[in-house]
Amino acid sequence: MASLFTPSRKVALQVLQEVREGRFAEDALSDALDRQSLSAKDRNLATELVYGVVRWRDRLDSIIRRCVIRPGTRMDPDVREILRTALYQIFFLQRIPEHAAVDQAVMYASQRSKKHAGFVNAVLRRALRDRETADPPPEKDPRRLAVYYSHPEWLVRRWLHRFGYRKTKHILQHNNSKASLELRLNTLKATPDTVSQITEESELQAIPGFPNALRVMRSSGKVETIKGFLEGSLVVQALASQMIAPLLKPQPDMRILDACAAPGGKTSHLAALVQDNARIVALDISQQRLNETAANLQRLGVHSVEFVVGDAADPQMVKELGTFDRILVDAPCSNLGVLRHNPEAKYRVTPEALMQFARIQSRILSNMAGLLNPGGMLVYSVCSPTEEETVGVVDAFLTASPGFSLLPFIREEVPMPVLVDARGFFATFPPPPEMPLDGFFAARVARK
Ligand SMILES: C[S@@+](CC[C@H](N)C(=O)[O-])C[C@H]1O[C@@H](n2cnc3c(N)ncnc32)[C@H](O)[C@@H]1O
Repeated sequence: MASLFTPSRKVALQVLQEVREGRFAEDALSDALDRQSLSAKDRNLATELVYGVVRWRDRLDSIIRRCVIRPGTRMDPDVREILRTALYQIFFLQRIPEHAAVDQAVMYASQRSKKHAGFVNAVLRRALRDRETADPPPEKDPRRLAVYYSHPEWLVRRWLHRFGYRKTKHILQHNNSKASLELRLNTLKATPDTVSQITEESELQAIPGFPNALRVMRSSGKVETIKGFLEGSLVVQALASQMIAPLLKPQPDMRILDACAAPGGKTSHLAALVQDNARIVALDISQQRLNETAANLQRLGVHSVEFVVGDAADPQMVKELGTFDRILVDAPCSNLGVLRHNPEAKYRVTPEALMQFARIQSRILSNMAGLLNPGGMLVYSVCSPTEEETVGVVDAFLTASPGFSLLPFIREEVPMPVLVDARGFFATFPPPPEMPLDGFFAARVARK
């Protein structure tokens, strides 16, 4: 029997258990895949199952509820995960034969007990038989929308209030979709020759209108196998994130602070924009993440960066770091703008947690702004669209800090003018229908 277990499903179930215990899916999956030597096909299926089940968790649970013969009985969490994984295959993946999904689920459940195997078999058979009634469309009801698209109801209600039904539905669908892998060409290493070689040979496509941005066209495989990656010609960086560093207008010879730097995506971009010819300080609270940043920057051929471990909210830092012409505050946030990459974040964030993030962001912003030279600029950014973490933080800062003024972005300075709003904030949320972007926000302030 044991030989019939497919390694992809085994890995997926292990990872899903770790996610349940609080780990990020991305980290748990990457560690699990590093530990096992799976075929490319099994790696892909394990990845598909983990992300699929996390993205659609509440909808899968609602199918389970509709198909359980005796509702109300407590369900073993591992058995629930086996059911979710099988139902994801049945309802979302056309390429997997239904009997394979059911047989594997029953086998896993039978490892626990015969009773569990019988239960899983009964629920799945019922789901197959009553497919339509087990998974009805959501209509416009906020509660049904929340369950169907597996988002917390408070968030769905907020978006309905702020954006209306059509945009909210688009946001929910977008959040549950797969993001394509986007790369930035590292101009410190890549020459025009390497560029054409890389794009010809690696199934990469330039993204029109976005300088140095490339999209990976193949759907699987390790990024390290892309030609030019290990040599440092390419950086993994989502398109929306690639638009942030240029907003700071860094110039050679300036003293520049990246106040929440790890893992260094924007630090390396800042260095590339000044041809590695400025004095950049990369500050982060985590020594371990800063070590990873240093390794990343070394691969990319960046030499102009000094690393400092410290808390950007600590007033002591103001005394230690000196002053700067440019400061980037890419603050820690709820991650609600990057749910395509971190789907579990939607279940963990609460309205109270947003207020907590806003408090930390405000402390970091006002503390770091104190390091700006007169006439210097600071960009505050987050990968979250919530008002608390974006406009709320910036407006509170401007009200409390008469020595600073908002320096609005102008439409001409971004690749898509629609991304600058009426107040001059940069916002990629809701995602424009023509370009599926992560949800970033940025504001720029200047010291008078
Ligand atoms: C959104 S991530 C930064 C991403 C990074 N700028 C990039 O583009 O790769 C936020 C970072 O802030 C760091 N962080 C959290 N709290 C901090 C604090 N109080 N002071 C400094 N860094 C902090 C985290 O360790 C994390 O690396």
